[in-house]
Amino acid sequence: MASENADVEGFLNSAKKAAETIREVVKEDGFIHIFSHLDADGVAAAGIVGKTLFRLDSKFRVRITQWVDEKIVGELLSDKPQLIIFNDFGSGYMELLNEKLANFEIVVLDHHQIVGEESDHVVHVNPHLFRIDGAKDISGAGVAYFVAKNVDKVNVDLAPVAIVGALGDLQDKYDQRKLGGLNEKIVEDATDAKLLTVEQDLIFFGRETRPIHKTLASTTSPFIPGISGEEDKSLAFLASLDIKPRLGDRWRALRDLSDEEKKRLCSALADYLLSKGLHYEVTNLVGHVYVLNREEPWTPLRDAREFAVLLNATGRMDSASLGVAICMGDRSSALEEANKVLEEYRRNINKYLGWIMEKPERKKEFDNIYVVYGENFINDKIVGAISSILSASLPNPEKPLIAYANVEGEGLAKISARTIDTMVNRGIDLSEVMRIAAENYGGKGGGHNVAAGAQVPIERIGDFIKIVDELVGKQLKGEKIGSGNSA
Ligand code: C5P
Ligand code: ZN
Repeated sequence: MASENADVEGFLNSAKKAAETIREVVKEDGFIHIFSHLDADGVAAAGIVGKTLFRLDSKFRVRITQWVDEKIVGELLSDKPQLIIFNDFGSGYMELLNEKLANFEIVVLDHHQIVGEESDHVVHVNPHLFRIDGAKDISGAGVAYFVAKNVDKVNVDLAPVAIVGALGDLQDKYDQRKLGGLNEKIVEDATDAKLLTVEQDLIFFGRETRPIHKTLASTTSPFIPGISGEEDKSLAFLASLDIKPRLGDRWRALRDLSDEEKKRLCSALADYLLSKGLHYEVTNLVGHVYVLNREEPWTPLRDAREFAVLLNATGRMDSASLGVAICMGDRSSALEEANKVLEEYRRNINKYLGWIMEKPERKKEFDNIYVVYGENFINDKIVGAISSILSASLPNPEKPLIAYANVEGEGLAKISARTIDTMVNRGIDLSEVMRIAAENYGGKGGGHNVAAGAQVPIERIGDFIKIVDELVGKQLKGEKIGSGNSA
């Protein structure tokens, strides 16, 4: 639930104001720049705003980047757009927008923690302004969706894309991996329009596209010891249940199982986990699954979580335009190409994970955190995904993990920090930690309490790690660490 004093109406009014601003600029035939973050949520948000502008027949261009900085802002100036829309970032850069883009009309559609205050040329739509939790109750794509819907009701058909964005940002934090808060309103819109079906089912990733034994073998949530990571054992497990992994010459995916087979699989997995003493993991077997009814079965677009991974891959592999095109409705060559990008992305991730495991000095444990040293080996745009994956299976899950990689040619290190909800309840706020630690060393940081990032000059990375370890320690003791500069 959104917090008791959440001002949902205030939020919706601010979305309306942003919609009016957009409509006015389009009426004047103005040129619009869309900037969006490169993860699944950012790409989905760009798709939603892009489609909205396309439908208005307006002139616009889309750019997907990892962050906003002076260089990017400088490039904007020469184009002289009549409106700049920032999606899924912007709220952490108010000072920069106020200083460098004072003469531009700006709309910020974001859900990250806010740093600084906007001045009059900025229409700022952010749940945190209305005491709504931007980490789990609405994503960047969700914010974009409410604006799009206010521009024109026809854009309700973009609700599934907003759901993909929210799942990409891992906002399914309610019971049985459900979307809640304002996300629930979007789910309602999508189901009312018959574009979405929400089912409670086995929650494994890959239900539309992967052979069942691979789905079981690749799961980390729930983690099934003896099956996770072991395809042979997973095939043998299916055989013991008399579940056929193939139909003719085609592998079957979870979606192909009959209800009876699913029940058999689910209860056998529950018994197996209980026999290993993993009572908690049993509750993770079943969860809310978001099925996009209009998408073709057996494609990664049918299951919203798979869709999100596809978008994430395009964004992080310098192919974001494919992801944006798909969100805007392209189902031809863009999808085919995106599938190839996804394969390549998976290969990279596996390569990086293998590399980290090769030598102990690549992953170290400190007093309060773990650190992964990606240096020049891991791509700085993929280090966030590595951080998310590794943080799901830490020896001590209570310690946050930070992973970093060098940004080629920029003299910077890109850092990605992750923790679990339990630690947020115990006082950890990684957004604050990243912001304060980065600012100490001439960098920039922010994000959400559970997932945050930073970029700092590479020569300061050692100091940065040390101070992050200290700041996390302080938060655990309940000490205040910052000047309270962020909302
Ligand atoms: O890059 P990464 O995936 O680790 O970022 C985690 C979250 O922190 C993202 O939502 C990202 O937008 C945010 N972030 C931020 N400011 C930064 C770096 C990351 O708000 N300087
Ligand atoms: Zn986001």
